[in-house]
Amino acid sequence: MWIIATVSGCYVFNKTPANSCIQRYCPHQDKNGISFSYYLISIKINNIKKNHMTFLLPDLGYEYDALEPWFDARTMEVHHTKHHAAYLRNFNNAIEEYGLGDKTLSEIFADVSKYPETVRNNGGGFFNHALFWKILTPGANKMEDKNLADAIAKYFCTLDEMKKEFTEIALSQFGSGWAWLIRKNDGQLLVFSTPNQDNPIMDISLIQGKPLLCIDVWEHAYYLKFQNNRAKYIEAFWNLVNWKQVAELYNKP
Ligand SMILES: [Fe+2]
Repeated sequence: MWIIATVSGCYVFNKTPANSCIQRYCPHQDKNGISFSYYLISIKINNIKKNHMTFLLPDLGYEYDALEPWFDARTMEVHHTKHHAAYLRNFNNAIEEYGLGDKTLSEIFADVSKYPETVRNNGGGFFNHALFWKILTPGANKMEDKNLADAIAKYFCTLDEMKKEFTEIALSQFGSGWAWLIRKNDGQLLVFSTPNQDNPIMDISLIQGKPLLCIDVWEHAYYLKFQNNRAKYIEAFWNLVNWKQVAELYNKP
């Protein structure tokens, strides 16, 4: 068993890389605009030193009860410390097992179809939740960014129309998955959904682009407070969107 204590918690890994030592702690900005932290571990195999990344659970950036009354504290805590943490643990194990420790998250997603499903499912679960925490904020702010407003006007006419389409997509995703607002490479804004823990950065996604906004529509995200009423959960979500963060993601190349 391998235990790492960090400022945000203590993480336990089942497998320990042989002949390894922690080299340094690395805050990292993924090219998709999400900040991750990881330990860079130096592993010596047959006298060849390899670097291996072990991702860490990101903080929410707010307290578990900060999104009340829209999202309840218990759901947020279980979602973060159980579900997200489990995806992270399994992803780090998969990285080690399949020798992907020298690749960035974006590189893994770009070729995810080549790897076993555990990489796709747990890597997606790790990334998607990290983005979800980031685009939520207590006491939502207004969408005031001119560039993003112009793009929404161009592709959806109004912000309300974009929210309506996004809501319909999130409601109609059969079973577990995610709804997304993305910016395609040609600049087009689009809403669509993906099943399970897939995301629009993965090569297996039918539509690809940079995620700007997302909602988790797995029942674990809302069942404690809303039971099976996904519509009420999505309605609550709109009170928590961090539009400043969405605009920041949009404005980054
Ligand atoms: Fe989730």
